Amino acid sequence: MVSKEEELPNDLIQKITEKNQTHLLEALKRLKSSEEKKNFVSQLKSIDFDLMSNLFEQGKNAKLETIYNPTSISKIESQYPKESILSEKEKLSQIGVEYIAQGKVATLILSGGLGTRLGFNHPKGEYNIKLPSNKSLFNYFANRFLGCQLMCRQKLKDKKIEFKDCPLFIMTSTQNDADVREFFKKNKNFGIKDENIFFFPQGEICALDDEGKILLETPSKIFKAPDGNGGCLLALKKHGIIDVCLKRGVEFINITAIDNPLYKLMDPLFIGITVSKGKNGKDQMGAKYIKKTDPEQKVGYFLIYKDKPMMLDYMEFPEKLKYAKLDNGDLVYNAANILDYLISVNFLKKALCEEENIKKLLNSFHHVKKKMNCFVFNKEKNNLEEKTNFEFNKYEMFLNSIFEFSNKDGLLLLEIEEMDEFAPVKNDETKDKCTAATARLQMSNLCKKWVKENGGQILNDSPKKYLEISFLVSYDGSDLFNNKDVPKSIDFKDIKEGEGIYIKNKNLE
Ligand code: UTP
Repeated sequence: MVSKEEELPNDLIQKITEKNQTHLLEALKRLKSSEEKKNFVSQLKSIDFDLMSNLFEQGKNAKLETIYNPTSISKIESQYPKESILSEKEKLSQIGVEYIAQGKVATLILSGGLGTRLGFNHPKGEYNIKLPSNKSLFNYFANRFLGCQLMCRQKLKDKKIEFKDCPLFIMTSTQNDADVREFFKKNKNFGIKDENIFFFPQGEICALDDEGKILLETPSKIFKAPDGNGGCLLALKKHGIIDVCLKRGVEFINITAIDNPLYKLMDPLFIGITVSKGKNGKDQMGAKYIKKTDPEQKVGYFLIYKDKPMMLDYMEFPEKLKYAKLDNGDLVYNAANILDYLISVNFLKKALCEEENIKKLLNSFHHVKKKMNCFVFNKEKNNLEEKTNFEFNKYEMFLNSIFEFSNKDGLLLLEIEEMDEFAPVKNDETKDKCTAATARLQMSNLCKKWVKENGGQILNDSPKKYLEISFLVSYDGSDLFNNKDVPKSIDFKDIKEGEGIYIKNKNLE
């Protein structure tokens, strides 16, 4: 006897046939156990076949040449190069320090990506970049998140301010959610109190082959991939995270990717400048950028398009504007995205309340190609074949789609020092760029710079003799030697190339 749950309703069979996905019916037929069948049927019921065929057609027809009209593009007015804020740095940072100490800022780490280029079989946040401490990416983020709050409280210790903890949000995917939670549990949340840490999974969407056929992850499981970094917008609402923020008095969420251990989380200067220089008050958004000097650099550009802030991919950017220069030789459009945003909770709440906006987000999927292991139905042989590193079509929402619901003043830009804040770990160690090796070097160089800036010295140095100072010792290098664990003179005499010195906070680690 076939139970009801194992049967597909006729209208669904019709839809599957109409949308050219009959291989899924074949896959269902091949399943043996009733449990597997029931489960597969419920997966089929959850698929929006119309959406998938629309996305496939759109992706197929998407043109690489620009569709953006250059006359509707202009520069973002509130763009702050590093040197432009030097005289106000202290004052602006102080505003941020107060925000953080009062728990008005949260951090959201986007950790739902597949991480296909890294080829690591666990959530990317568990990746060890092999500095002397052997910390994972999650560990660095957690340390900096706590280190920032320690620093802010220390700076305000003589003021009558009620300190409040900041929350940390971690967006996972259906695939890695359990692993991520387990990893934090095993590591006692790296010192973050349970009540201050929140995990939530992002949405997912079917992966397709080049004929638009829905792929399988295993013979009994549809291959669904996370719905892009912009999936956090819908997930923040769905999982009640915006309500958590409102309840706790959080005004801004610092949203970052998991792959850059140098992100300066909840940077007081970034917060101060966004709060006080933005023209949109409590609805302001901020983004950090690196100054682009090569017009052909493959990055996303921040700009205004049709009176709204936008992040445009280099492939879509009009040639003419790509090379435009200012009198001082700088490129006019030189703000490159590093995925470090400060988004107002008030703005998010308003923007995500509108049904129209949700529809727009759901219509804003971008088409990308990625490689993963999966199962493909071979028509000729009439069976399922396992494929390794199969190139598939993935559909992603981008976080910057949120800009569309703002106005031309909605996004403020702050330039960062690339070497100090941006070392994304995207690729495995066989590549030259964006690897653990580049991150190790940059992290070590930053720590050496801190020692020198504070009047210390480094002896017998070499680039591959690594120095690592925990973010729980110092968040940003300030007051480094106030911590007695840090020697003023660091000598690498007995350290081999490829090894290093690690200075930790002995009270906290
Ligand atoms: P990437 O665009 O580098 O994608 O993500 P990825 O999946 O991590 O890696 P590749 O391209 O497959 O090698 C940038 C950031 O956005 C997060 C990632 O976890 C990373 O922090 N992200 C990306 C999500 O959280 N969800 C997604 O669906 C995609």
